[in-house]
Amino acid sequence: MAEIKISIYDINKIVKQYPNDKRYSLAILQDLQRGFGYVPKESLEAVSIYLGIKISALYSMLTFYKALSLTPKGKHIIKVCDGTACHIRGAPVLLDALERALGVKAGETTGDGLFSVEIVNCVGACAIAPVMVVDGHYHPKVAPDQIGSILDKYREGEKG
Ligand code: FES
Repeated sequence: MAEIKISIYDINKIVKQYPNDKRYSLAILQDLQRGFGYVPKESLEAVSIYLGIKISALYSMLTFYKALSLTPKGKHIIKVCDGTACHIRGAPVLLDALERALGVKAGETTGDGLFSVEIVNCVGACAIAPVMVVDGHYHPKVAPDQIGSILDKYREGEKG
């Protein structure tokens, strides 16, 4: 994916909205995530210095909170449910087909920045398992051979 240059000015604009108190560290990381779509590595040093908190502590938060990510997410987020019902009805085969179609593994983003793949637990739609959720839209009873046409729909949407 093309490298996005983030300026320290933009980082500080977010970081310094908060008092320099450690208890705001999570709020700052969440704001950075919202502002940039991820938490840029270069922002961690700024947060660390500003709050007087160790970078390792910030990394721990980034690992613990799933909504925080150190890498930019794709424009379209594909969630493959691997809860019990979906697992039994073929989620692993579905995921395998998706990973092969996109050339990335779960947790990764395609080189063109269009798609990120995530594995999630039950999304509450077991009756239509296996389920794939793209940008919040539920695709029911997805068969591996439907993956291509589903992806094409989102790719075509880009051409608008
Ligand atoms: S297990 Fe996938 S929706 Fe429930």
